[in-house]
Amino acid sequence: MNKTQFVCAECGYTSPKWLGRCPDCGKFNTLVEEQVAPAPAKTRAGAGAPSFSKPVPLSQVKYEKYERVSSGIGELDVVLGGGIVRGSLVLVGGDPGVGKSTLLTEVAAHLAKEHKVLYLSAEESCSQVKLRAERLGLNPDGLLLLNETCLDNAEEAFLGAEYVVVDSIQAVYTESLSSSAGSVGQVRECATRLMRIAKSRGITFFLVGHVTKEGTLAGPKVLEHIMDTVLYFEGERTENFKILRSVKNRFGSVQEVGVFEMTGEGIFGVTDYSDLFLSDSRGEAAGSAVTPGETGNRCMMVEIQTLMAKTAYGLPRRMSLGVDLNRLIVLIAVLEKRCGLPLGTQDIYLNAMGGIRLNEPSADLAVCAALASAERMIPIDRETAVFGEVGLTGEVRGVDFAEKRVNECLKMGFKRVIFPAKNKKHCEKFKGKIELVPVSYVSEMIKSVFPS
Ligand SMILES: Nc1ncnc2c1ncn2[C@@H]1O[C@H](COP(=O)(O)OP(=O)(O)OP(=O)(O)O)[C@@H](O)[C@H]1O
Ligand SMILES: [Mg+2]
Repeated sequence: MNKTQFVCAECGYTSPKWLGRCPDCGKFNTLVEEQVAPAPAKTRAGAGAPSFSKPVPLSQVKYEKYERVSSGIGELDVVLGGGIVRGSLVLVGGDPGVGKSTLLTEVAAHLAKEHKVLYLSAEESCSQVKLRAERLGLNPDGLLLLNETCLDNAEEAFLGAEYVVVDSIQAVYTESLSSSAGSVGQVRECATRLMRIAKSRGITFFLVGHVTKEGTLAGPKVLEHIMDTVLYFEGERTENFKILRSVKNRFGSVQEVGVFEMTGEGIFGVTDYSDLFLSDSRGEAAGSAVTPGETGNRCMMVEIQTLMAKTAYGLPRRMSLGVDLNRLIVLIAVLEKRCGLPLGTQDIYLNAMGGIRLNEPSADLAVCAALASAERMIPIDRETAVFGEVGLTGEVRGVDFAEKRVNECLKMGFKRVIFPAKNKKHCEKFKGKIELVPVSYVSEMIKSVFPS
C-alpha cells in the first residue's frame, strides 16, 4: 500500500494527518497530500558487517579547489562569484517572460562549444527552442535538446552530459509520486534527485524556477535550501533593462548584481551602467536627488525621484518603488518632527530610477533630500550627490564604503557631495578634487542643499 503524508505548501512541514492550520508556519489550509517516496534500500559493505562513516580531522581534509568555467556572459559570471562551479546547482527564478529561457539558452550555447550540454525543455517544444536560438544568432552544433517532462525518462540523458539546463523545475515530474507536476512534493522530489546526480557525477545543473505572485520562488522553501546558488532575474516586462540578483550563493557574495539589456538579438551584459539609473533631466525638476548606491562590489549612481500631491481625503498615501516603504515612512516622520517639514497632508510617491532596489541605509539622506526638494519645490543642483544613514533623532550616521562612494561621484563628474561627518577622515584625500560637505544632522543637509 502506498503511504501518504501531508506537506505544508508554505514551509514544507510534514504531518501524518491533515490539519487545517500548519503548526509550523501558522498558515491556514496549506497542507496538501503527498505520496511518501519509498526509502532507498540500505547498502552494506559486507554481510553482517555494517559500514559506518568515519569522521576526518579538519587538518587532514583535502583542499578541494572549485573549478570555475566562464558562462560566456561576463555579468552572469560576476553574479555567480567568478564563473560556474562544476557540479553545482543553480536556480534562476523570475517573472514570466522576463528572459530566463533566453539567458540559459545563451549560456548553454556558449558551453556547448567545448562541453557536452543538454537542454531539457519541459515547457517548450524543441522547434521553439531552435527558433529562439536562431533569433539569438546561435548555432551550437554540440547542444543537445530534449523535450521531456518525466524526469525518470530524462535521467539516462543527464548522465552523458556535463552541463544540464532544466526549463523548468515546475514543469517536470517523477512517476514515484502521484501528485501533478509543479506541486510541492514533485518540485522537492525532482530537485533532490537532481542534487544527488549533480553531487555524485559532478554534473552542473541550471534550473529555471517560476515565481509566485508575491515574487518569491514557487514551491517549497527546501527548494532554495537544496540549491547551491539562487538567482533572481528581475525587471519590468516593458523595460529593456533586467537585473540579475543573487540571493544565495555557496561560492560567492550574495550582494552581486548583474545588469542586462534585452533586445531582439539576445541578452547582453551591460558593463557601462554608470548613467543607467540617472535621468537626463535631473536638476530641472524638484523632488529628485542622486546617491551613490553600493551593491556587491559595485557602486552606482542612482537617482531617487519623489512626487508630492495634496491628500484629497482621508489618510495620506505613501508609495515606494525601490526603497523599503517602512524606511520611507520613518524618514517622513523624521523630516516632520526634526526639521519641521509639513508632510502630514501630502500624498508621497517615491521611485528609484531604472528599477533598481536600494536596500542599504545609505540612501536615507538622499531620500530626505529628495523629499525636502519636492516639498520646497526647489530642484537640487544636478552636480550634487548625497549619501548617509539617518537616525530617528535626525542625526546623520556614517556608512560603509564612503571612500568608494565619493570616488564614484568624482568619476561620474559630480562637483559636490554631501555625506556623513563621521566619514570625514575617510574622504580627506578627495579634497580639492570635489567639494566635500560633511553634515551631522538632516537639517544641516537641507541647509547645504538649498543655500539660499
Ligand atoms: N521575436 C522576438 N523579438 C524580440 N524579442 C522577443 C521575441 N520573442 C521573444 N522576445 C523577448 O523575449 C522575452 C521572453 O523570453 P523568455 O522566453 O526567455 O522568457 P522566460 O522568462 O523564459 O518566460 P517563461 O516564464 O514564459 O518561460 C519576451 O518578453 C520578449 O521580450
Ligand atoms: Mg521560458
